[in-house]
Amino acid sequence: MFNRFHLVKKYLPYYLTASNGKGHGVHSPFVFNFIRYVLNDKKAYPCYSIIEEKRKELLSNETVIEVEDFGAGSSVIKTNKRIVKDIASSSLKPKKYAQLLFRMVQYNKPKTIIELGTSFGISSAYLAAADNGPDVYTCEGASSIAAIAKQNFEELGLKNIHLTEGDFSHTLPAVLSQAGKIELAFIDGNHRKEPTLNYFQQLLNHSTGSTILIFDDIHWSAGMEEAWEEIKQHPAVSLTIDLFFIGIVILSPDINHKQHFTIRF
Ligand SMILES: C[S@@+](CC[C@H](N)C(=O)[O-])C[C@H]1O[C@@H](n2cnc3c(N)ncnc32)[C@H](O)[C@@H]1O
Repeated sequence: MFNRFHLVKKYLPYYLTASNGKGHGVHSPFVFNFIRYVLNDKKAYPCYSIIEEKRKELLSNETVIEVEDFGAGSSVIKTNKRIVKDIASSSLKPKKYAQLLFRMVQYNKPKTIIELGTSFGISSAYLAAADNGPDVYTCEGASSIAAIAKQNFEELGLKNIHLTEGDFSHTLPAVLSQAGKIELAFIDGNHRKEPTLNYFQQLLNHSTGSTILIFDDIHWSAGMEEAWEEIKQHPAVSLTIDLFFIGIVILSPDINHKQHFTIRF
């Protein structure tokens, strides 16, 4: 169960113990480069303002839509009739994190990306906007939400996003076999322990020699904390970076000494 108190209680020790985000004393080349060229890249990329304009439109959209409730979903809204702007303000990754996703793709150049939890397509747009034009396979259960995401992709001119509708438990196996090998995945839906571990295992089976998995809300609940701990301990995991609101997992046989980092962001 989500518990705001749980989140606050976890945030304080994270804040006090995390590395300062400057990279001093970090001996992992991957993490050093990540901090220097991705985390701290302050450049204003042209796609930022275009996608944030779309977010702004969603945040003022008063349309009422009928929404199926999937998984742990949103912690704020409980009814099935929802206003677009309310979903936009409670479900979409804030720009700080969404733009970090963009920079991770821009820097690491993954060709094939999976996203679980499209919502209105803001994070999908950031993932797809990188120069290398990756194929982004994104999955969304609520059809009324998916319809708005599709329209947004069209308006943004992003033809490299492939949206699949339906419950992840039904759609993920087919999407993974269509996509083949996965170089980056963003898991941002159904934040519960067992489903998260199940998605992790499925993604693992489609990983390459250097796959990056990004899990949202790893400290959101006791169940998500447990899932994150299990993922960290998995033998296939080479390195993890805890940024509190997201957790980054690197699967790479080239890193032979497992390490966990907590970095302030
Ligand atoms: C947090 S939102 C995604 C936000 C989006 N990634 C962004 O930052 O722009 C999570 C989405 O996942 C969908 N979802 C949750 N559980 C699901 C499931 N089991 N199957 C399909 N969709 C699901 C919800 O309908 C919701 O739209």
